Amino acid sequence: ADQATPTLPQMGFNNWNSTHCRDEFNEAMIRGIADKFISLGLRDAGYRYVNVDDCWANWQRDKNGQLQANPKRFPSGMKALADYIHQHGLMFGLYSSAGTSTCEPLQENRGFPGGLGHEKQDAATFASWGVDYLKYDNCNNQKIDAQQRYTAMAEALRGSGRHIFYSVCEWGQNKPWLWAGKPPVDANSWRTTDDIRDEYASMLKIFKQNVVLDGYASPGHWNDPDMLEVGNGGMSISEYRSHFSLWSIMAAPLLIGTDLRTIKPDALQILLNKEVIAVDQDPLGVQGKQVRDTDGIHVIVKPLKDGSEAVAVFNETDAARDVSVDASEIGLKNAASYRMRDLWKHSQTKGNGSIKANLPAHGIVMYRITAL
Ligand code: DGJ
Repeated sequence: ADQATPTLPQMGFNNWNSTHCRDEFNEAMIRGIADKFISLGLRDAGYRYVNVDDCWANWQRDKNGQLQANPKRFPSGMKALADYIHQHGLMFGLYSSAGTSTCEPLQENRGFPGGLGHEKQDAATFASWGVDYLKYDNCNNQKIDAQQRYTAMAEALRGSGRHIFYSVCEWGQNKPWLWAGKPPVDANSWRTTDDIRDEYASMLKIFKQNVVLDGYASPGHWNDPDMLEVGNGGMSISEYRSHFSLWSIMAAPLLIGTDLRTIKPDALQILLNKEVIAVDQDPLGVQGKQVRDTDGIHVIVKPLKDGSEAVAVFNETDAARDVSVDASEIGLKNAASYRMRDLWKHSQTKGNGSIKANLPAHGIVMYRITAL
């Protein structure tokens, strides 16, 4: 996955789901994460962006109105952090909000400075620090029109002299799938839902909201059902496998949301499944289409560049289910036989294009089907 030309869904890490604004979110952690990208094989698997979320900034802008790093969390500053990440062959992402201040802290009557009205200066600051990616949140927006606010930052980023990936975090409030991927915003991705939580019910709800938006995604312009929870402990390994498979077949951003310094092997194995990642990152750039949503069973089909189809069959219910899907439902082109590659078992059989599976509660199977 070449993330320098951002036509594929972004892959990387963001600290939010694992730390929120707790003190452990600091430069030692983020450097440690960059180290783990290399040592755990995540960079080799295609993960590129190391992204920092809310609470990185100092409470106030400096005397010139420039954003500055929080000196407690990031004493070496953001430029030094970007340099460290770049030295690892990785890219650096930063966060701000299209409002007067960011979202946190919720309780206190003060916040970190937001980008509203400061777009040009902030984009210039980001470029000077070596920022490659901006996540632009929606808090404290003063009820100003969303398209106007996200356009202002889009234009500032384009004028900054640096290529900066643009991730719109508007939570789906003003149907961003209708406008965020087109000029003048022309963002690379837009959040379609509220925040994910590390619970099966939350993952399921977000999947259902995002899967029906496939018609709005195109290369370089992706629906974003929020970041991964894989590894955070609130779901079973089988549920995390479903989460990762569903995000991949939806061509969603794959942003790891767990602390890679302490990740367990079974969760890491999910994030490193190269055959599933290849579905997400397929160069044809099509979000999978849901062809069945009946009785708690979902079938999603994603056409791939080499003419194969990726197929996920997901059981959202709390009981095991026997499911069959035939070649015509998948929309397979006629062929004498098909190679059925199981992307979790890493094994293949020759078949007639139909899938029969006994799915555990909340379980999934995922195949890559190729006409022979
Ligand atoms: C809301 C966003 O949706 C989250 O992903 C996260 O960035 C928080 N704000 C940070 O305050």
